[in-house]
Amino acid sequence: MSIDPQPADSGLPLPTLNIPGLPADFVWGVATSAYQIEGAVDADGRTPSIWDTFSRTPGAIANGDHGNTACDHYHRMPDDVRLIADLGLDAYRFSLSWPRVQPGGRGPANGKGLDFYDRLVDELLARGITPWATLYHWDLPQALEDAGGWPERDTAHRFADYAELAAGRLGDRVQHWITLNEPFCSAILGYHVGCHAPGRQDFRAAIRAVHHLHLGHGLAVRRIRSVVPTPAQVGITFNPAQVYPASTEPADLDATRHADGMGARIYLDPVLRGEYPQDVVEDLARLGASLPVEAGDLDTIAQPLDFLGINYYFSDVVAAGDGPGRPVTVPRPDRPVTAMPWEIHPQGMTDLLTRISRDYPGIPLYITENGAAFDDSVHAADADGSIQDIDRTAYLADHLTAVGRAREAGADVRGFFAWSLMDNFEWAYGYDKRFGIVHVDYETQRRTPKQSALWLRDAAGATRSR
Ligand code: FCB
Repeated sequence: MSIDPQPADSGLPLPTLNIPGLPADFVWGVATSAYQIEGAVDADGRTPSIWDTFSRTPGAIANGDHGNTACDHYHRMPDDVRLIADLGLDAYRFSLSWPRVQPGGRGPANGKGLDFYDRLVDELLARGITPWATLYHWDLPQALEDAGGWPERDTAHRFADYAELAAGRLGDRVQHWITLNEPFCSAILGYHVGCHAPGRQDFRAAIRAVHHLHLGHGLAVRRIRSVVPTPAQVGITFNPAQVYPASTEPADLDATRHADGMGARIYLDPVLRGEYPQDVVEDLARLGASLPVEAGDLDTIAQPLDFLGINYYFSDVVAAGDGPGRPVTVPRPDRPVTAMPWEIHPQGMTDLLTRISRDYPGIPLYITENGAAFDDSVHAADADGSIQDIDRTAYLADHLTAVGRAREAGADVRGFFAWSLMDNFEWAYGYDKRFGIVHVDYETQRRTPKQSALWLRDAAGATRSR
């Protein structure tokens, strides 16, 4: 990290505003997701999602937290859009709540639910902010989970119907669509590990879910393109694992291959190449699981895309565990950690982006999430309660620098969305982990931009005026 002796509210040194390698037309944005910020879980016809149910499961979420109120964004949306505008950012990535738009996940759209997103889009456009809509950020309608959830093929078709309803209403103004956010988390954390909704622990079901998420994506891309009048930009967001072997021992190299297959290529290959990797299919067979591929599925899944969204937070060093197909992550005590605690490794982002652009050439990349949780302390001396989150600011600066390096190495990365606009419901961690560049006081719902937000504003401005 390079330090500029620039004037700062805190008097602390801040990272440079001049990130090398980023062009003047680089897209600067922030991201959120519906369940993490909206609250209003019973409002205007919304039905429960799997996260409402999971949040009521004893022990599932830290402190028994839930998204019933969250950041109350449903009622404070215009003010939150103003925050983004005040930061001078170009784009806002949000997600639509499926059970708000289509209660129960079947049948006609819920006009009132869609009205909310309609107003959001209009607010954004009125303030010159480009909306980037994610259709699925993990909040499956509970009724569809009751019918079997993502391990069932029918859920893919239900998702495509919902995508058409949403794009049909908003597609005259929303030109950037992301079908799924991190299908790895939906499938593996939700159905295998069980630490995310719906909390199942069934590896075979999780692998079925992987394929049906992909199928839902492909079907949805077609339906979005069929209803959006202007040429839509359609993509998907993955969080591909960035893994390094712990040693050059054959067992560690094979564990790394497996981790890369299950954490990255099982998602990237079908969507961008129209095939599942053969070594992954063989690994799955050894583990007693299989991808339920039917004739024509891979053609459907491999729809041409306009961009690929990448979420990056950390990398992993991997060694052989107790048996094939069971790699273990080796902690790196030399690396600093965030409050998660996730190891901080910006070089992993450069490596990931250069690798993706080499192995899957020709598709523009956007960082659709990157950011860090830290235990922010409200600056005691500051009457305005400002938060000098130099650690988060440095994290963002270092990762933007990593993006610049990847660009210089030839990766076509066109934008960066900080996770997150504001502190919010961090899934199984509840409200304990704060990723926001804007602080939320959950008692009062007061929003206070942190130092990182002001730095992002200024770094975006500096890049634009190059
Ligand atoms: C990602 C999720 C996002 C947020 C960040 C910290 O995996 O997409 O909702 O929880 O992690």
